[in-house]
Formats: sequence, C-alpha cells, structure tokens
Amino acid sequence: MVTHRIALIPGDGIGQEVTPAARHVLDTVGARHGVHFTYDEFDWSCARYHETGAMMPADGLEQIRQHDAIFLGAVGDPSVPDHVSLWGLLIPIRRGFRQYVNLRPVKVFEGLPSPVRTALPGQVDLVVVRENVEGEYGEVGGRLHRGFPEEMAVQEAVFTRAGVTRIAEYAFTLADNRRGVLTSATKSNGIVHTMPFWDEIVAEVATSHPDVTWRAEHIDALAAKLVLDPTRFDVIVGSNLFGDILSDLTAAVAGGIGIAPAANLNPEREFPSMFEPVHGSAPDIAGRGIANPLGAIWTAALLLDHLGHAEAAAEVEHAIAACLAKSPVRTPDLGGTANTVEFTKAVLEFA
Ligand code: NAI
Ligand code: MG
Repeated sequence: MVTHRIALIPGDGIGQEVTPAARHVLDTVGARHGVHFTYDEFDWSCARYHETGAMMPADGLEQIRQHDAIFLGAVGDPSVPDHVSLWGLLIPIRRGFRQYVNLRPVKVFEGLPSPVRTALPGQVDLVVVRENVEGEYGEVGGRLHRGFPEEMAVQEAVFTRAGVTRIAEYAFTLADNRRGVLTSATKSNGIVHTMPFWDEIVAEVATSHPDVTWRAEHIDALAAKLVLDPTRFDVIVGSNLFGDILSDLTAAVAGGIGIAPAANLNPEREFPSMFEPVHGSAPDIAGRGIANPLGAIWTAALLLDHLGHAEAAAEVEHAIAACLAKSPVRTPDLGGTANTVEFTKAVLEFA
C-alpha cells in the first residue's frame, strides 16, 4: 500500500461541489490499486479574502510544499475582481512551484455529441500543452497618466530560452509517446520578436525528436482548423496566452467546459504539481448541487497518472467514456436531470 498526501483546495462556488466527487473517485479506484490518499483541506478562497484580506496565508506555499500533489476545485467570485482572486492564489502556486506545463487533454466521447459536425466520437484525441509561467502573462509593465486623456498601459511579454526550451521539450516528448504529431502555435508574422524566437527554439528542440512530425501554424488559422478538422491534431504546444485560448476552444469542441481536465505540472518534481478542472466557479449554478463532476473526475485521473498509477488512471478515464456511452445519467449542462452526486455514482459503476 502506498500513501499519498494531497493538499485539497476546494475554493469557491462549484469548486466546493466537484472536489468531493474527485475525492470519492480517488479513494474508490485508488483502494483497488493499493493506493491510499490522505487529504489536508485548505479554505483558501474568495470567502477567506473577505474575512482576512488575502486569498491564502502569507506562508501558504510553505504549508503545501511537502504534499505529493495539490487538487484545486475552482476560484473566483463576483464579489472579488478576477485578477485579485487569480493572482492571489492560482498564479502564485503555478509560479512558486514552477508548474511550467499546463496540460489539457481533449477527447470527443461517444454519447456526448460535439457542437462541431466534424468532431466525431473516438476521432478527436488531442492534448494542449500550454506554457504556464511566462510569456504574455508577465508581470512586466505598468500604467501611466491615470485619469488623464493620455492615460496609457504597457504590458510586456517575456519569453526566455530556458522557458521555451523546456515547454517544447515536454511537448515533443509527449508527442513521441502518443501519435507522433505536434503543432506549434505561433504568430511570427505579426508578433515579430517573441514569436520568431519561439519558432527558432521549437525547431531546435525538434531536431532531437526525429520521429515527431511537426509544423508551426499561425494561431488564427490554427483556431479555424480546430473547428474545421479537429481530428488531425495530436499534441498542440502554445505560449501562455495562445494555450489558454486554445484549451477553452478545444474543450468547447469536445462538448463542454464541464468535462475538461487540467494539470499544472512541475515535471522535475522539485515541487508538488496542481490538478484542477478547466472550468471556473460557475456562480450561475453554484450551491444547487448540479455541477458536472466529470472535469474534476478526469482531473483526478491525471493526478493518479502523475503519481505513477497509470493503470488506475486509465480505469477512471475508461469509466467516464463507458458511462457517457452506456448510461443516460447526466447533469443538466449535458441535457440530463441528475445532480453531482448521482452522476459521480453513475461513473463509478463503470470503474
Ligand atoms: P465558468 O467556467 O465558471 O462558467 C462558464 C459557464 O460554464 C457557466 O455558465 C457555468 O455554469 C458553466 N459551467 C462551468 N463548469 C461547469 C460544470 N462543472 N458543470 C456545469 N456547468 C458548468 O467560467 P466563468 O463564468 O467565466 O467564471 C466564473 C468565475 O470562475 C470567475 O470568477 C472566474 O475568474 C473563475 N474562473 C476560475 C478558474 C479556475 O479556478 N481555474 C478558471 C476559469 C474561471
Ligand atoms: Mg482559460
């Protein structure tokens, strides 16, 4: 029996409702594979911000540094500006723990029709690899002449050789272990300094992965192709901004944000990695117990995989696919009437 210590941050809104579903799946499937989880729960959230003035304590990172992984539900509340909640909790963890890979797998499942006609079940199976700690989401910049007619804002994108090399290396290695096809999102025709730099480094990294077929595609054309022919993609690597947008686009192509999983990885394992569904706190449905738990459950599979339990992870993914294909049970976002607990139970029947 192995034991893993998980730092659990349910967060806000439906984060509170989908986190128990993930935990239930980890415990049930883990037990069958000799894996035991212990959880330390943290109340870091917008509610905490209102009480104490901070999303998390000043020594927050220290409190979770020794855990094997972090599971986060979602953060955000209409009463707190999004940049405050994001930069007060999520971003410090991603950056402080050098979680430079944001991994977002996308599949079209049988029983969950895509809004896109070309996205047939079983034929769309791709992963967006997003650079997660630099690029366009830099802290360099500022505002000047506030309140005057010449008011201005400057935001610098920051690309480092080390940062681009390691994300490209991760993506090519992943492609090597999948179908061997990689697409690099670029915009070197418009963004004339950082994007040619990105392209050059991706091409350099490609030389040590001769079995991967790859090409660079401009982000605008790539977005169109993802809608017109999503089946031809395997691994897509992009900068922080491009990867962010592409992963929501691909999640929508797959039939909804409610099922999309994500992992923030520190591949070197110097720090714990963080697992979180792609969706946010969904204030419009929070508190009603009807949130779709599939995003959180699939995210739990990514956590299992990262901790070395590939078989258990595959079992969870298989349960999701089988449940969608064979069971009519669904939450309202997928056209059903089940609640979060009922849908979770239905998935576990196929595990
Ligand atoms: P959202 O993902 O929370 O919701 C978008 C829409 O999708 C809503 O209509 C919602 O009801 C629906 N939805 C999302 N997840 C669902 C699920 N599991 N089951 C059923 N329906 C689901 O995005 P939105 O509205 O842009 O953001 C709400 C808050 O969440 C904001 O404060 C935002 O900053 C935050 N947010 C946090 C993220 C995170 O914690 N990683 C990611 C995205 C947004
Ligand atoms: Mg996003």
